[in-house]
Amino acid sequence: MRSASAPRRLPEALSPTASAVIAAAGSGERLGAGGPKAFVELAGRPLVQWSLEAFALAESIGPVVVAVPPGSERELGVGVAVVAGGEQRSQSVAAALEEIDTELVAVHDAARPLVTPELIDELVAKLASRPDAAGVIAAAPLTDTVKRAREPRPPKGEIARGGPTVAQTVSRDHLWSAQTPQVFRAADLRKALDTDPQRIAAATDEAMLVEKAGGKVLIHPSPAENLKVTTELDLRVAELLLTQRTRPEGRRPGC
Ligand code: C5P
Repeated sequence: MRSASAPRRLPEALSPTASAVIAAAGSGERLGAGGPKAFVELAGRPLVQWSLEAFALAESIGPVVVAVPPGSERELGVGVAVVAGGEQRSQSVAAALEEIDTELVAVHDAARPLVTPELIDELVAKLASRPDAAGVIAAAPLTDTVKRAREPRPPKGEIARGGPTVAQTVSRDHLWSAQTPQVFRAADLRKALDTDPQRIAAATDEAMLVEKAGGKVLIHPSPAENLKVTTELDLRVAELLLTQRTRPEGRRPGC
């Protein structure tokens, strides 16, 4: 599916075509939609379709493989390569990676429907131009003031009376909020995923595993608008932004 509008100029360093893995196998418990988050309706389509469209429009992307909850393989219809995901997100990514044979692979959360083709192409171009790096991640500068508490964060809804105590205010100077897409050399990502189950379970993104395996990971600044849908509030904000974007007079924010 390519845009009918004029072809976009690719960033200069773009060379090899990458594949994409979309992680869409989460249960979506925190959203409380009563089913997998990837299939929750957002601005008239299932959440995962927004990411699929962005990847279809990205010039740097060839094959796309989606990891979905086991039993939901038929939900996306024909024309999309689908695998059954695993218990942890990195296991879902590993399952999809088995279907990939390009040198570069872009990993993306279905939960980030505001991703743009421009952002995807920029990330692929950046990694293609940096042979010293194993990966490049989209990330937004942190805007909140960050506090480290004396106590570990309690599970949601179980904050003890009085709450945690601040131990320290952490400087934001070096802090980024990691997002997806995250583009990797597929060989480095495979090596990083070949690790013990505890490390896989603790990984909140694939870059974390690549870093632990010794790979250099670059940061590509990306707007906070490339938000992750976790709660009902996120869903409402994403709906608003997508509706604004798809209106004829709507702004197309450059990521
Ligand atoms: O649960 P969370 O929002 O952190 O999930 C991030 C992304 O990883 C979502 O797009 C979700 O569908 C995906 N995921 C997955 N397989 C899992 C768990 C999460 O593909 N086992």
